[in-house]
Amino acid sequence: MAAESLADRLDQLIADIGPIPVSVYVEAALYDADAGFYTAGGGQAGRRGDFLTAPEVGPLFGHVIGRALDSWWRDAGEPDSFIVHEWGAGPGTLARSVIDGEPEVLVSGALQWVAIERSDPQRDRHPEHPAVRSAATLPATSPNVVLANELVDNLPFDIHERTAEGWCQLLVDERGDDGRFTEVHDEVDPAANLPDLATRARVPVINAGREWLADVLATLQGGGRVVVFDYGADTAVLAARGLGWLRTHVAHGGESDWLVAPGSCDITTDVPFDQLTSLRDPVARSRQDDWLRRHGIDELVEAGRRQWEESASVGDLAALKARSRVREADALLDPDGMGQFEVLEWLAE
Ligand SMILES: C[S@@+](CC[C@H](N)C(=O)[O-])C[C@H]1O[C@@H](n2cnc3c(N)ncnc32)[C@H](O)[C@@H]1O
Repeated sequence: MAAESLADRLDQLIADIGPIPVSVYVEAALYDADAGFYTAGGGQAGRRGDFLTAPEVGPLFGHVIGRALDSWWRDAGEPDSFIVHEWGAGPGTLARSVIDGEPEVLVSGALQWVAIERSDPQRDRHPEHPAVRSAATLPATSPNVVLANELVDNLPFDIHERTAEGWCQLLVDERGDDGRFTEVHDEVDPAANLPDLATRARVPVINAGREWLADVLATLQGGGRVVVFDYGADTAVLAARGLGWLRTHVAHGGESDWLVAPGSCDITTDVPFDQLTSLRDPVARSRQDDWLRRHGIDELVEAGRRQWEESASVGDLAALKARSRVREADALLDPDGMGQFEVLEWLAE
């Protein structure tokens, strides 16, 4: 007998208990132990092709992060131990690039990098290095820095729709004849803490993202900081995009519909940043291009350009890596692409 698909199992769940919150559907689609997009398939799934993340563009992003870590480590008085928790580490690419950049905090032996990743196949690909440790959930150590690149967009979210009566949560109901799960409204949610928007507006509600932020803020050492890199905008701005803020990424290209064949594509939301900042005011909120410039991306690119000019005739690996920096910087600083992502920073209280 053919194994039951995730869609069949979700249909059965809905038949048993009634329509389910979008966050329950997304949790299963991304992280179901047998069929989730991130947990199944030997870890091959992820953002590839047109949807590279900043660490996957190349090592430059990690080199800039290394410079930022050095500055925070120096500000903290160069302690013997400097703990970084990287949440949603994927296959560990950012840790690899930071190590490759040889920041002082690493060379001094102070850096302890914990790559936190809930997907087993992704965790299996983490680098083996004395400064790096893998974890599946919140580690016991108290970090100096928490980093999360494109994590919050990937935490299960709910959807609320503004009706004439007020904000209602959307629920996922059984599949129709076309094989697509259907959407229904729950009752009006009087507790919805959302802006007053026009009828039919649909917005993401990121309770899991808020809970994650509250949890990591509580783990920080004195003087520690949380740094979130992601794409998004405030809730009211997202509402103007219709459902355009809900994105699906297919591992090998092609069309996808989030309510068809759960587990076959990534499902993400543009992050409604105001739902994070209302929890606690960040000390800084910047565009990603500005943040990267503040932490020295232009100097790194210039150094790469000089190295390429001096050693292009040799054409060795170092020369090619130096040339690649220029291309990586173009992608990271693209004002209509990753440059417009946002970086939010919170400090320990
Ligand atoms: C879009 S990927 C980003 C990976 C990496 N940070 C990058 O920028 O390339 C998001 C990752 O977060 C992981 N993830 C989601 N929820 C998590 C959680 N609660 N704890 C740890 N990892 C999580 C997913 O499994 C996935 O690998």
